[in-house]
Amino acid sequence: MTTIFINIKELLQTRTSTIEKVSGQEMKILPSIKNAYLLVKDDEIIDYGVMNDTCFGIADEVIDCTGKIVMPTWIDSHTHIVYAGNREQEFVDRINGLTYEEIANRGGGIVNSAEKLQNTSEEDLYKQSKKRLEEVMQLGTGAVEIKSGYGLTPEAEMKMLRVIRKLKQEYKLPVKATFLGAHAVPKAFKNNTAGYIDQVINEMLPAIANENLADYIDIFCEKGYFSIEDTKRVLAAGKKYGLKPKIHVNQFNIIGGVAAGVEYNALSVDHLEVISDEDIEILKNSETMPVALPSCSYFLSIPYTPARKLIDAGLPLALATDFNPGSTPSGNMNFVISTACIKMKMTPEEAINAATINAAYAMGIAESHGSITVGKKANLILTKEIPSYGFLPYAFGTNNIDSVFINGKKI
Ligand code: NIG
Ligand code: FE
Repeated sequence: MTTIFINIKELLQTRTSTIEKVSGQEMKILPSIKNAYLLVKDDEIIDYGVMNDTCFGIADEVIDCTGKIVMPTWIDSHTHIVYAGNREQEFVDRINGLTYEEIANRGGGIVNSAEKLQNTSEEDLYKQSKKRLEEVMQLGTGAVEIKSGYGLTPEAEMKMLRVIRKLKQEYKLPVKATFLGAHAVPKAFKNNTAGYIDQVINEMLPAIANENLADYIDIFCEKGYFSIEDTKRVLAAGKKYGLKPKIHVNQFNIIGGVAAGVEYNALSVDHLEVISDEDIEILKNSETMPVALPSCSYFLSIPYTPARKLIDAGLPLALATDFNPGSTPSGNMNFVISTACIKMKMTPEEAINAATINAAYAMGIAESHGSITVGKKANLILTKEIPSYGFLPYAFGTNNIDSVFINGKKI
């Protein structure tokens, strides 16, 4: 089955060779072809270029894209899409003056979500989660990483990871599973963080690895959650099972999480709302992708990751949603790129690079996704008729997406 997209107003993120990521000044460059065609065979991009006469009549299906832009789908490399219920009450508590930290200290926050999840059946959890996945796919997300971490017991963590596996099986987009057992200390281990870490390492990890339920390992490295020592223990244990780290660091405090992540060869270090010059130097000498989560900053009214500082220092940057019930109840990547431009002073080119090619790197799928390259998967966004790609972040809150294709098929 071949499909040709013709009369494309502009085809974005065209890369002749598979580059892994773009850093620093390169992030300002978004290669594209105006008045283009794109040829797809089954699930793969097989050709593209400037429109010409030979474009007609060579494919089984022709899609006329006059006035519209075609680009690779968004890649969301950091989500917690599998969760039970919501935390609307905590949202109202914050409006009334409590902080995220105060709510967590009262027994709300992550452990609140864990309680809900423990009392939800696997089937119901799957139903709640697939609704969110379907929603974000319609919003242009064509690959998604999903974390555990709202179970906090061996049974409930396994339940979450099995739901992620089912989503992986039922939906055609790439899904990566991350084991985040060390997301918060559960009530049963109050004042015994080391005991909980023992359980994560000695009980949960072997069982998860045995069923091959995780691709990556994560920990919330933060004051009041897990220390650098805990982080190193968990990452070292994950390494034994071949799980690369993708970790939560520097959301509220700088405690050395970036250095720990780099030391353990993390694929990404995520959040970075606060970051030191030393952290930037450490990242410069690494293969670790920094990931910013602007919707989280927006929702919690906390600082935005200083994207300009990172990019101007020559670093790459990826953008993701952090979709979760507590700090970011939104999985809309279009809002993420708008917010990155508006609040973090990223240019549209930088934001689109950060949410496609660099995001693919942060998810470990850069070889097959993240750009318009021959041989890569045809996971595509077809926009509505818009004046230019800059309109995507500019017209924030407007849905400019006409349709989404996963593996060459319209969803
Ligand atoms: O990435 N910061 C840690 N974990 C999530 C939020 C968890 C929650 O509040 O439920 C995050 O923001
Ligand atoms: Fe997160």
